[in-house]
Amino acid sequence: MLYSRIAGTGSYLPEQILTNADLARRVDTSDEWIVSRTGIHSRHIAAPDEMTSDLACKASLAALESAGVAASEIDLIVVATSTPDMIFPSAACILQDKLGVHGFPAFDVQAVCAGFAYALATADQFVRGGMAKTALVVGAEVFSRILDWNDRRTCVLFGDGAGAVVLKASDEPGIIMTKLKADGRYRDILATPGGVANGEVVGTPFLHMDGQAVFRFAVKALAELASETLDAAGMTAADLDWLVPHQANVRIIESTAKHLHLSMDKVILTLAHHGNTSAASIPLALDEAARAGKFKRGEHLMLEGIGGGFAWGSALLRW
Ligand code: UT7
Repeated sequence: MLYSRIAGTGSYLPEQILTNADLARRVDTSDEWIVSRTGIHSRHIAAPDEMTSDLACKASLAALESAGVAASEIDLIVVATSTPDMIFPSAACILQDKLGVHGFPAFDVQAVCAGFAYALATADQFVRGGMAKTALVVGAEVFSRILDWNDRRTCVLFGDGAGAVVLKASDEPGIIMTKLKADGRYRDILATPGGVANGEVVGTPFLHMDGQAVFRFAVKALAELASETLDAAGMTAADLDWLVPHQANVRIIESTAKHLHLSMDKVILTLAHHGNTSAASIPLALDEAARAGKFKRGEHLMLEGIGGGFAWGSALLRW
């Protein structure tokens, strides 16, 4: 049986840091409110000339280095993003060129904060099916460009960044199980409902969110998904060593951990210094924890993300 296995991880956060105190000078908010409601202390903001593919490229180079894999060995690129450089070509094709490699499939997936789970599941299927041997899977976002910086309900929550993994074909897992879900009936509670037509922006190009509705949906959906993923793999929560969740809100993460009876020291938490980076948040958290030496070979990790669509997904893997 063929599996895919994470051979290396990388991430990149832009240089500029925006603290809660900085935000409190722009909108009616406070460090106390942001920290107590979300767990976020600061976030990174891309420079004006820094594009999603630039962030993706830096994270990818770090992932390739940690995997000991040359760019010329990659035979698939999947980029999860909702903030690509432009309408087309895809961030994945631009990234491919920036990495100086050409010819193999490269495409974006758009599942907002569940994007990395979708991209990983897609690449895993390519590898299992024999269509790729060495896949680069990236989550990269510049959400700072779709935020209304006068809207305190949303601008304090998000940041920019990228994370990447190299997936290699392997005789042993690796990725044990992935699950993806979507329910378009909830598309209005978290959306950036703008587009471009006839040379003009149509609709609203800023993110808007019904925070409480999203919160309620996320808590329930993530708990159910975690149980379903473990059941499908014939495992229980007791078999889990680490939870690597989407980094949106520490209260949502605590709730998932509680559902799994997992103590918080088994949960990777990085949102304090980068906020919600949407599709980038899971690979960012994964990379930070991997580089800190937290994961031991053979340990079981659960990755979970949820966001606009609504779309949500998980990956259960052996490190
Ligand atoms: O990645 C996709 C997934 N996204 C998420 O997971 C986000 C899910 N939602 C959340 O994390 C939370 O709902 C928020 C952090 C967005 C909001 O927390 P909350 O505890 O649900 O607050 P709330 O929306 O009920 O607002 C409470 C109060 C309101 O004031 P009133 O109406 O009670 O007077 C808000 O206007 O807090 C006010 N408020 C703020 N106050 C200071 C909202 N934003 C701010 C702010 N600073 N930045």
